[in-house]
Amino acid sequence: MNNKIEIFDTTLRDGEQVPGCKLNVREKIEIARQLEQLGVDVIEAGFPISSPGDFKSVKEISQSVTIPIVCALSRAIKKDIEIAAESIKSAKRQRLHTGIGTSEFHIRYKFNSTSEKIIENAIAAVKYAKSFVEDVEFYAEDAGRTDNEFLARVCESVIKAGATVLNIPDTTGYCLTEEYGKKILYLKENVKGIHKAILSTHCHNDLGLATANSLGGIIHGARQVECTINGLGERAGNTSLEEIVMIVKKHRSLRLYTNIKSELLCPTSWLVYERTGMYVQANKAIVGDNAFAHSSGIHQDGLIKKRETYEILSPKEVGVKESSIVLTARSGRAALAYRFKKMGYTFSKKDLNLIYPIFLEHADKKKEVHNEDLKIILKTANFITNL
Ligand code: KIV
Ligand code: ZN
Repeated sequence: MNNKIEIFDTTLRDGEQVPGCKLNVREKIEIARQLEQLGVDVIEAGFPISSPGDFKSVKEISQSVTIPIVCALSRAIKKDIEIAAESIKSAKRQRLHTGIGTSEFHIRYKFNSTSEKIIENAIAAVKYAKSFVEDVEFYAEDAGRTDNEFLARVCESVIKAGATVLNIPDTTGYCLTEEYGKKILYLKENVKGIHKAILSTHCHNDLGLATANSLGGIIHGARQVECTINGLGERAGNTSLEEIVMIVKKHRSLRLYTNIKSELLCPTSWLVYERTGMYVQANKAIVGDNAFAHSSGIHQDGLIKKRETYEILSPKEVGVKESSIVLTARSGRAALAYRFKKMGYTFSKKDLNLIYPIFLEHADKKKEVHNEDLKIILKTANFITNL
């Protein structure tokens, strides 16, 4: 089996669906160009039928990038597919993404339909999409809660109709990791013609399992991951691109790889945060402000002696200049001496023992002790005369 994991970025579609996250066309193009630099394989640029503005963005993104495939989303509805096809017409590499809900919830309550009719609609949508482009991805919405046997029938039918990629979304983020992995394996083993299509993961984070489930999917044979920068997306979000990419990169035993230039991960995260205004939590893996910040004395001492003691990633690897040692009331003498050295001061053990209690007194009053505070401490302890 091929070991490359295709990265399908849906920041501009699923990510932009988030309440409060609105991007204008210029901002979307800027992000799309950054995603191209980052090395994503597919950019899902939007859902063109949803609004004239979205149509315009997909059209302009199609003209603005050349390396990644530009993908447009549609429902299994003729008009949707036509508009989506029109929006990506000028893209160098085009993909249509169409699909329909396949779980009991969707079939019975959303569509008031039957399993057989859903299969018919799915086949018709793929065939219609195929009349516009060669590369057609099919999504079985709520595949996470769809019976595996029925899902396999749907997949087999759409492959026959010409689907090149099968998206197996855990739309509600419900699946357990093992369950989702086994679903992918079941499809690999039970769908006739599966070798003609790529299986794709699309996991939502409602239970905080999106990245783990995508990993479960690729371990069991999926070769495309749908994900977003900073994990943006409906409700609790999607699989975070930076997390899945670094898991694949760090765990060589998986024998998988992506095309992503990891040193652009944080700069891309910062751009998406700035343009969308969607705040990234400080303790977010890889891209959060605290991802490379060390504040407890025990950790700081270990890190100063050998970085790998407390860091499995090098900050440079993901585009951060360096780790930071944050001075707080939990910091020890090692961190204090380290910071002083960076400021150009070296103290004997005896002197440091004199300064340390004054530092602690100061630190107990503040969240973080900065260089300016340290200068005041040194003056108080009569180690420097002017500031
Ligand atoms: O979560 C989902 O099922 C989706 C589909 C439209 C692909 O976003
Ligand atoms: Zn989704």
